[in-house]
Amino acid sequence: MAITTCVFDAYGTLFDVAAAARVLAAQPGRDALGKVWPQLADDWRMKQLQYTWLRAITNAHTPFWDVTKDGLDWALERQGLHQDPELRESLLALYWELPAYKEVPFMLAKLKAAGKTCAILSNGSPDMLEGAVDSAGLEPYLDAVLSVESVGIFKPASKVYDLVERQFGCARDDVLFVSSNGWDAAGASAYGFTTLWVNRTGDPMDRLPGTPAHVLPDLATVPELVA
Ligand code: LAC
Repeated sequence: MAITTCVFDAYGTLFDVAAAARVLAAQPGRDALGKVWPQLADDWRMKQLQYTWLRAITNAHTPFWDVTKDGLDWALERQGLHQDPELRESLLALYWELPAYKEVPFMLAKLKAAGKTCAILSNGSPDMLEGAVDSAGLEPYLDAVLSVESVGIFKPASKVYDLVERQFGCARDDVLFVSSNGWDAAGASAYGFTTLWVNRTGDPMDRLPGTPAHVLPDLATVPELVA
């Protein structure tokens, strides 16, 4: 079956989540952050994701913005930087304008030119996603921005992946689901989507049910993959 619909995870896949810490660390007067930003960015992301999984299995959903703040607070405390409210606010503000990876606009433009439907399916809340999409200028290429908030549980719950069929009326095998998160690519594979795991950092494959159909180092050749 030909792929008609390309659905992208947002954070880490289209948008560079490490950019908030990296960009702020490069500013003058940010010496304390400059020394620790890579570890801080890793901890922030990992805690944010852990909190999504734990909240999903304990039926304790809260919008992604809350787990984003909670993850940052854990990461800042680990570095002894938790008594600097200005630093916290500056990092959080940058999360609303994360840059897209450089190949993203051209890749999406090529998919649209080829007649594909393109969408985001993300844990992010609608307001966060709107901020990121606007700031990266991706709005013209997207047919829908789907948020887990409409089902009140985080990925990889199958109710989240159901949103694609609900929005577009397409079959699971019409869909290429693209994520840089190995666990998300695995979950979407087990669900029945054709999947692409974008493995930018050469990580080992997650040992989970569901194996991604495709693995690429970045998003540049997605249009050729679905042609
Ligand atoms: C998202 C998270 C998983 O955008 O990055 O859904």
